[in-house]
Amino acid sequence: MVKICCIGAGYVGGPTMAMIAYKCPDIQVVVVDISVPRINAWNSDRLPIFEPGLDEVVKSCRNTNLFFSSDVESHIADSDIIFVSVNTPTKTRGLGAGKAADLTYWESAARMIADVAKSDKIVVEKSTVPVKTAEAIEKILNHSSRDGVNFQILSNPEFLAEGTAIDDLTNPDRVLIGGRQTPEGQKAVAALKGVYAKWVPEDRIITTNLWSAELSKLAANAILAQRISSINAMSALCEATGANVSEVAYAVGKDTRIGPKFLNASVGFGGSCFQKDILNLVYICECNGLTEVANYWRQVVQINDYQKLRFVNRVVSSMFNTVSGKKILVLGFAFKKDTGDTRETPAIDICLGLLGDKAKLSIYDPQVSEDQIRRDLTTSKFDWDHPQHLVPSSPTAKSKEMVTVTWDAYEAAKGAHGICIMTEWDEFKFLDYQRIYDGMEKPAFVFDGRNVVNPDELRKIGFIVYSIGKPLDAWMKDLPAAPLT
Ligand code: NAD
Ligand code: UDX
Repeated sequence: MVKICCIGAGYVGGPTMAMIAYKCPDIQVVVVDISVPRINAWNSDRLPIFEPGLDEVVKSCRNTNLFFSSDVESHIADSDIIFVSVNTPTKTRGLGAGKAADLTYWESAARMIADVAKSDKIVVEKSTVPVKTAEAIEKILNHSSRDGVNFQILSNPEFLAEGTAIDDLTNPDRVLIGGRQTPEGQKAVAALKGVYAKWVPEDRIITTNLWSAELSKLAANAILAQRISSINAMSALCEATGANVSEVAYAVGKDTRIGPKFLNASVGFGGSCFQKDILNLVYICECNGLTEVANYWRQVVQINDYQKLRFVNRVVSSMFNTVSGKKILVLGFAFKKDTGDTRETPAIDICLGLLGDKAKLSIYDPQVSEDQIRRDLTTSKFDWDHPQHLVPSSPTAKSKEMVTVTWDAYEAAKGAHGICIMTEWDEFKFLDYQRIYDGMEKPAFVFDGRNVVNPDELRKIGFIVYSIGKPLDAWMKDLPAAPLT
């Protein structure tokens, strides 16, 4: 029986390995992690991540051919194929701080593999890594392992998106496998291809050299994010001119060369990947002396930051230039719907911006816990992407006073001056906005960062409504759209 071990039981390691176990009953899959609470959660009835359809897949093969364990060393030693799916955060200090990928966790996983491996292994990069990482990993493995043990490194980046991970894994657009162009390298590629071929049509399994596979992952995320920044840049121009960004996106996306996906204007993209991977790409370009290319991609992140700043500015300027002491209901905190993940969610920057102007926030998200929200509002930039037990806890006093977290949107709306919609949860479309309006201070504002509500219907109720990229309410037509600096 082929034995697979995956180091890192996170948003990628957990679902991808569960899918391999589900589709390949003849393969034993063990997912290991240094975080004992995370492993315990994977073994419990309440999985550590919320992902539609994940529970069913895990429960159908857990303890049959899918196992979760914190005994990292013994399972590595025992496996033929080792996936590495650990965090690759943005560096916070030292060379490349604020841009480069921090490979500390990757390196420690590689050293662990070298230490305990007594037989040949295929080591698969599942984490998103800078191009050429495989070369560094090869050096670690080959210089610190036992004599006679051979390693083949493959790059097999993951393209799943959160909230749709199970569909994406079941029916991927493509699976990408990069390997060395040697007979041994190609044998390893064929072995991994054989795993995916159990359920993925062969013409969707692409094989390339190692560097193409590594770079394709960064390129895909950069280009997806670039589309969002492009439409978000247009949204600002729509507001200035009276064009409607949804109509523009529809018309533009009808061009089959462009296509309709990833053209939804929003308060900004979030999530653990886009910003991190683009900054990483920027750093790699700089290291290769490609200043113009680096500047081009950096702009995608800068427009995203501008979009968030612009939103905060809309809120504050609409509400008589101050939100000090005013209660604002924040609907949604996750970085997108159908996930409880808050990593780099735009809601953090919006909440911090409003708190900076001394607003009182009442936050509601159907999947995010109060602990998580408080932690997010006090964690330093980039610190979130480390194994949770290693992130220093910060004082929460400020957020305790100014922030309440609620499980009832109607209760939370009572006495509020404004509502900010931060996540496109379906339920926000169907709230009883008349009931909400009746309990709010007047004038009552809605700032829709996801274009989920119908602005005309809300205006009929009496709300003053701001929807990203849509024709402006008369109330805010002459107010400044963004700070000059
Ligand atoms: P995550 O933080 O959810 O999971 C990583 C896990 O690795 C953590 O549980 C951590 O405790 C564990 N870990 C760290 N060092 C370890 C070690 N030495 N030994 C054992 N366990 C260790 O992260 P994630 O979202 O699953 O992302 C993992 C990688 O996949 C990143 O490189 C990310 O960029 C990439 N990726 C993420 C997504 C996504 O949607 N989240 C999609 C594609 C690719
Ligand atoms: C992304 C990539 O899509 C996926 O292929 C990769 O493996 C990991 O990174 P993810 O971050 O999970 O996936 O979600 P995604 O659907 O890409 O959304 C990212 C952010 O962009 C979210 O905040 C989302 O709300 C935002 N978004 C997305 C928009 O603002 N507009 C859009 O049109 C699409």
